[in-house]
Amino acid sequence: MQTRKVEKFAGVALLMLLMMLSPAQAAAYNCSAPPSFNNFDVNSCCRTPEINLGNVPQKCQQHVNQLKSANPKYPAYAHLCYPECIYRETGALINGRLQMDKVREYLQEHVHRRDREVVPHIVRSFDTCRKNIHGHLKAANLESYKVLPQGCSPYAAMLYSCVNAETFLNCPAKLWKSDEKCLVAKEFAQQCNPLPHVPLPMS
Ligand SMILES: *[C@@H]1O[C@H](CO)[C@@H](O)[C@H](O)[C@H]1NC(C)=O
Repeated sequence: MQTRKVEKFAGVALLMLLMMLSPAQAAAYNCSAPPSFNNFDVNSCCRTPEINLGNVPQKCQQHVNQLKSANPKYPAYAHLCYPECIYRETGALINGRLQMDKVREYLQEHVHRRDREVVPHIVRSFDTCRKNIHGHLKAANLESYKVLPQGCSPYAAMLYSCVNAETFLNCPAKLWKSDEKCLVAKEFAQQCNPLPHVPLPMS
């Protein structure tokens, strides 16, 4: 009798453990009511690898600030056209086309040695996002996105936010912060921001 009780208990404990480990069994979130993080910076959950962009950010700051759509109330990096400039200036974007070989090469050369092992993860995010966006274009029967009144195509900005979301969800262990709030943020994102993690274009 005693053994049976123990067996039953072990069975329940195992089931609970499996439920905790399996993302499919995670708590169901209300996607219109994100959990409150109380000023906790969710972006710190998956640390950005150290990358040396040289004078590119400075160049792109200047580029964005001379656009008609520049808004001095916001930092230049928040401008819709900032990612396009970054990708163009790093050689990743040529005539609006993403060069995957250049992305890989640039990251391998410019990510700090101590974070270099995460480069394949980021390259994979770029590849997934590139395919997702091209899937959207194809489904909409479009060759490419039009240039917006802001002064650029939304392509690079979409790619940029997709790569961030994708890298967050598949964050390499080396960059991930083990924190209860980070786990909740990840579960919420997994449930409420399903693939493909691409915001829809504004036109
Ligand atoms: C989800 O949250 C929204 C916004 O707070 C609320 O209006 C809605 O009733 C909630 N839905 C459920 C199923 O709890």
